[in-house]
Amino acid sequence: MRRINEAHTFFTSFTNTKARKFVQEILKKNYAEAIMVHHPEAHLLEKEDVTDKCQYLVDSVFQRIEEIQASPEELFPLFAQLSRNKQPRDKIWFDEFLQAYQFYKHQRKLNRRYEKIKNYLHGSSYCDIGCGGGDFVAFLKHYHQPFQQVAGIDVMDWRTEAVKEEIGFQMLDFSQPDTFSKVKYDTMSCLAVLHHVGNTDEAQGIFLQNIRKSLSEGGRLIIEEDVILPEDELLRHQEYQEQIQQLKEYQINLSDFLQFDYATQKDCIILIDFLANALAVGVPEMAFPCGFRSIEAWTDILENNGFSISKVKIAGFVPGNFNQSSHVYFVLNKK
Ligand SMILES: C[S@@+](CC[C@H](N)C(=O)[O-])C[C@H]1O[C@@H](n2cnc3c(N)ncnc32)[C@H](O)[C@@H]1O
Repeated sequence: MRRINEAHTFFTSFTNTKARKFVQEILKKNYAEAIMVHHPEAHLLEKEDVTDKCQYLVDSVFQRIEEIQASPEELFPLFAQLSRNKQPRDKIWFDEFLQAYQFYKHQRKLNRRYEKIKNYLHGSSYCDIGCGGGDFVAFLKHYHQPFQQVAGIDVMDWRTEAVKEEIGFQMLDFSQPDTFSKVKYDTMSCLAVLHHVGNTDEAQGIFLQNIRKSLSEGGRLIIEEDVILPEDELLRHQEYQEQIQQLKEYQINLSDFLQFDYATQKDCIILIDFLANALAVGVPEMAFPCGFRSIEAWTDILENNGFSISKVKIAGFVPGNFNQSSHVYFVLNKK
């Protein structure tokens, strides 16, 4: 039942032609650019050849989704077939993508994320809630010296063997009331997770309260979310407008995204999120309740669940990333 509801959500967004076209085009462009940036031997690659292969990859995916539009129950089996992690891999995948993505996932992405949040890390203990593969936790263990203790929590364990040896881990479902870590942490992060937890105030509220209970007194929470950026909301906040203005100078994808209304922006984010996690990340098993919000709506639920907002940093559609969306970082203090 859960999967069929998720498939319906996906197809509702997929039938929004503006959103579908936008996502199809940015995926082709972003993949090609990311391969040329992150491939360890990028200087040996032909840009046109890479562009053609990315076009084939993305167009094939969209065509195969279109073919099953009348049968939503076939969506997740199709995602499982197309996942980068499926063995043997589907013929859409090609060596240059796989090599560049591997390098990006284990090095550049971690570095880039660290650069974005390092100034907000606080204290000597750290836990990433919804840590996924756990690579970022392992990265911080090595590169963020003040952290003496690092760990991950997730409802699923999809860490690699190498990461399993590196980090502490608890398998916990933070969507359940009173499920939290007995060990308390000075900093916690929750990166691209909250929209996977639920799509109601209640479900996301329980999750946030569990995070709050896992934090030390005076603890810090850093959230990364893909947010809806409606025009009327931006007009109410000078500081967001200023950040957006700067980003628009070099983020064409963000400029195009901002021209859409609330509903189409949300459809774009939904399609990007499903496709990123099902294809390149390759974990279609995770839940997709699509609990996306605008910055104001996040601010409300965060404040209502015991956090004060220290900073809202709009990162946008970061050029060179394989999976781009309207990323925003929230830096919060436990009240
Ligand atoms: C999109 S992935 C993000 C993984 C990682 N934070 C990253 O950015 O690469 C979302 C993660 O949230 C986890 N998650 C979803 N619901 C959860 C829950 N109720 N409790 C703990 N983790 C959860 C999923 O299992 C998945 O690993």
